[in-house]
This record gives sequence, structure tokens and C-alpha cells, in this order.
Amino acid sequence: MDRRLYLLKFGGNTVSDAEGLRRLFGEVAQLVSRGFSIVIVHGGGKEISAEMEKRGLKPVMVAGQRKTDIAALDCVETVLRAINGRLVAALEAESVRAVGMPAYFFTESRRREPFRICEDGVEKEVDMGYLGDVTDVDAQTIYDIVDEGIVPVIYPVGSDGVTHLNVNADTMAAGIAAGIGCREMIAITDVPGILRDLHDPSSKIDRVSLSDIDRLISDGTISGGMIPKVEACRRAVLAGAEAVRMVDGKNPENIVIDVFEGKPRGTLIVRRRGLNGFQYSKRA
Ligand SMILES: Nc1ncnc2c1ncn2[C@@H]1O[C@H](COP(=O)(O)OP(=O)(O)O)[C@@H](O)[C@H]1O
Ligand SMILES: [Mg+2]
Repeated sequence: MDRRLYLLKFGGNTVSDAEGLRRLFGEVAQLVSRGFSIVIVHGGGKEISAEMEKRGLKPVMVAGQRKTDIAALDCVETVLRAINGRLVAALEAESVRAVGMPAYFFTESRRREPFRICEDGVEKEVDMGYLGDVTDVDAQTIYDIVDEGIVPVIYPVGSDGVTHLNVNADTMAAGIAAGIGCREMIAITDVPGILRDLHDPSSKIDRVSLSDIDRLISDGTISGGMIPKVEACRRAVLAGAEAVRMVDGKNPENIVIDVFEGKPRGTLIVRRRGLNGFQYSKRA
């Protein structure tokens, strides 16, 4: 069955703006009514950090991902669960049927192994604690939901069977996109796409290939949360998605224009430069 599956990943900054969300979900409602199957994965980075500080904890990010001790994990779960409820309610307000759930309902994850990094010329080992990666996805659970015309709204808390794990939302989105065989993955974030200069929105790169990604990370153009995001895009491309893109959530119209009218506004991630691996076409 061709489910026309599209995975939309909403970043932590996009989910905090109620008015922005209403407009975004208006777009989602259009897509659902046109017969597209939409799966949503969301983050909550900004609110998680704020909650940690409220509890007297210090957020620590390493290469764009959260070092997660047990106290941080509790914050992650509490905040993501609350955001998840808000998103489901906001979708229902747009007459979209939605069901919220943690990723551990249908995925398996594994704790990230400690790794070595070089900081200020000093090499050190980093243990990310309860940070995980997705290893397995039960796709049928998702198919059963979308086949009913319902949008699964997933928050990125996984489990290794022993403990819950915090998974970066982009990493989780790519794991799920690969596991369910999404036609496209669209990462909705707070920047117009990958920028050459973070302070200049007009420096957006329209299209990057997988080999460009390595270069952009190693020369420092891409940093922070953009690192797991491009790694996630790479994984989704390699898993066979026809298109993987980043779109600015501040202009929700972009999703429909970018994806369904074939006029990319954000950054498109392609396997190889020159070879798109897919064609722009109206598939509605
Ligand atoms: N080259 C780059 N282009 C765009 N954004 C970048 C780049 N390098 C780092 N970033 C940062 O990545 C952020 C997006 O990642 P993140 O904060 O994790 O957001 P999200 O919640 O969407 O995952 C941007 O807001 C920006 O600060
Ligand atoms: Mg992020």
C-alpha cells in the first residue's frame, strides 16, 4: 500500500509559539485532508533547558546534544509529555485527529557509548548519560494509526528495555523515518535552512549533498543543534527517502510550497550534487 508517508519534525523552538503552531497545524490539516499520511515527531529543547534551570540544574550540550543525567532525564520526560499534550490539542483544534505517544511505545533504543572529544586542545572522554539512539522501529504500529487517518504525535523518549532514554528529536525522527519508510522527512526549525553565516539569513544554502555535510561540519560552518539535524537528514536520505529538507517554521506556508508545490524555500539534502535522486512533481 502506498501510504504517502511524510514525517514532519518540529523543533524545540517552533513548538513554543502558540500562534505559530496554529498556523503550522492549519497547513498540516490541509495535507491530511488531501490524503497524505503525516507522522509528527517533536522536540522541546528550549523548554527543557528552561525547566532544568528552574530546578537548579545546568543544561550541558555536547555537539548539539544534551548530556542527560537522571535529573535531566526527568526534566526531559516531564516537559516533552506536556508539549505533546499541547500539540495534540492544537491539532484537534484544527480538526485533525491525533494521538500522542512516547517513542518507546514502538521503538527500541540504545545508550550512546562514551566517546572522546578534543576541547581546547585537550582530549577527554564524554559520557552522555541517558542519551540514546534508536535501534529498532515497529513500523506496523504507525501504519495502523495513519491508516485510520490519525496523525501520530511522537515525543523522543526511547527505552533500552531497562531504562528510558533521551533521544535527540532529529535523531529520533530520522530513525523513525527510516523504520517506516517515509517518502519525505521535513525538519521544521527556527532558521531558513543551513546558513553559511549564522548571522545572515540570506546566506542560506539551497541544496547540500551528503559529502558537503562532512565538509560543513569539519570546517565549523555547521555547529550546535545543526549537527544532529544534518546527521539525521543524512540517515533519512540513505534510508531511501525521496527528499529530505529543512524548512523555517516561522513561515508555515513554506511547508506546502516547499514540499507540495515543488518550490524549495529551505535547504534540500540530496545524495549527490547534481543528481537529485528525485523529481519535483505535484503529487497531491
Ligand atoms: N550553519 C548553520 N545554519 C543554520 N543553523 C545553524 C548552523 N550552525 C548552527 N546552527 C544552529 O542550529 C540551530 C537549530 O538546531 P536546534 O537549536 O537544535 O533547533 P531544533 O529545535 O530545530 O532542533 C539553529 O537555531 C542555529 O542556532
Ligand atoms: Mg535540535
